[in-house]
Amino acid sequence: MFRVCIFGTGYVGLVTGTCLAEVGHHVTCVDIDADKIDGLNEGRIPIYEPGLEPMVRDNVRDGRLHFTTDAAEAVSDAEVLFIAVGTPPDEDGSADLKYVLKVAETVGDNIRGSVIVANKSTVPVGTAEKVDGVIRERLAARGEEFPVEVVSNPEFLKEGAAVDDCMRPDRIIVGTRSKETADRLRQLYAPFNRNHDRLIIMDVRSAELTKYAANAMLATKISFMNEMANVAERVGADIEMIRKGIGSDPRIGWHFIYPGAGYGGSCFPKDVRALASTAREHDVEPELISAVESVNERQKKHLFELVARHYHGGENLRGKTFALWGLSFKPDTDDMREASSRTLVAQLREAGASVRAYDPEAMDEARRVFGEPEGLAFCDSSEATLEGADALIVLTEWKQFRSPDFRLLARSLSDRVVFDGRNLYEPADVESMGLAYYAIGRGRSCAAVS
Ligand code: UDX
Repeated sequence: MFRVCIFGTGYVGLVTGTCLAEVGHHVTCVDIDADKIDGLNEGRIPIYEPGLEPMVRDNVRDGRLHFTTDAAEAVSDAEVLFIAVGTPPDEDGSADLKYVLKVAETVGDNIRGSVIVANKSTVPVGTAEKVDGVIRERLAARGEEFPVEVVSNPEFLKEGAAVDDCMRPDRIIVGTRSKETADRLRQLYAPFNRNHDRLIIMDVRSAELTKYAANAMLATKISFMNEMANVAERVGADIEMIRKGIGSDPRIGWHFIYPGAGYGGSCFPKDVRALASTAREHDVEPELISAVESVNERQKKHLFELVARHYHGGENLRGKTFALWGLSFKPDTDDMREASSRTLVAQLREAGASVRAYDPEAMDEARRVFGEPEGLAFCDSSEATLEGADALIVLTEWKQFRSPDFRLLARSLSDRVVFDGRNLYEPADVESMGLAYYAIGRGRSCAAVS
């Protein structure tokens, strides 16, 4: 059993803290937001994440998981401290370290003995050294000298599958120069590291860069497929066939080759930009990484282009009403950060169209993001969006949107057309109901518009 303190109760901090408590460690999570901490102590979690709420409640009840705003107290007897606070992008796209360095100050001001400080926040190369410097400065100001080891321990969890990713990680990266620290973290992670060794020990800078490399690689696969989809659309080929054709090559693989309405979320857009900024700072022109981002920005606007083409020009969208299914950046989350829905809703409203939107989890978040502007109605169900709608647009691949009643769609949508930003349906199934169908990179449907 380790005494663990975690700074930050966002996705990463909350999930990591809860999973560490679940396997028996004694965990205190610290956040500056008192309302959030009160809610968490009562078992209410501020995010939608499958499986997390009961796990938080059980571990709080069993006394292994605590939430507090009192950082000084939480730090004082911890053996391992995790930094899991946000690193929002600066104006130039680089990661802003103010919250991370503030935690370093708190650590330096309050520790009472030897600690390992593990950084889980996604931070630029060199941050561990900065954190180390700040802690040592603060200790020196107190006239103290404790052994402190700052390591990089990046997190790879996915929203919507975060608990599972944390309980069954495919790798645990630890960047440290100390064998003793590596051994301590091996003990801490032992319950997650059964059957085969998932711990990869490396130097601190490589660990910091690994996180960016992983996200940028995945984002590259997506942008590649989106660009390929646009080619397929134009040449009259079907990207879904191409996806199957290339995914079967194990060197390419099946994952992250789904074309769509562009990637969003809290990680890919931010990390791709931050990596480009790091490269530039070190005199490397990030040609490929920059293209990954610009292809994605273009892709977020692609569905609107299909809509505008179908109606023979964006000017003809004035007065039209679109049912919109899916607002979150991906299924199983209420997160709308950098979601394609934000771009599309703005484009449709700018063109004078109205939108009737529904998302299984993100309605509260959508109200917060959009407010209640004219021309945007929030509906209680996917069926309710169809009332008075001319066309349907599907933007997030929630399970509940996968097999809709096409007869109902054909009866309800006055223009009898479906735009699918995630390639959920078989074109023939939709078209046999008398609906026009547009998807991403599926040449047949493109032929109808070009
Ligand atoms: C990602 C990484 O997967 C995770 O390892 C890291 O720790 C944080 O960033 P997350 O942002 O939660 O996780 O979502 P993910 O499932 O990776 O999807 C990101 C975006 O890419 C979504 O908008 C999704 O719709 C899109 N995507 C994903 C595609 O468009 N096509 C694909 O084939 C896969």
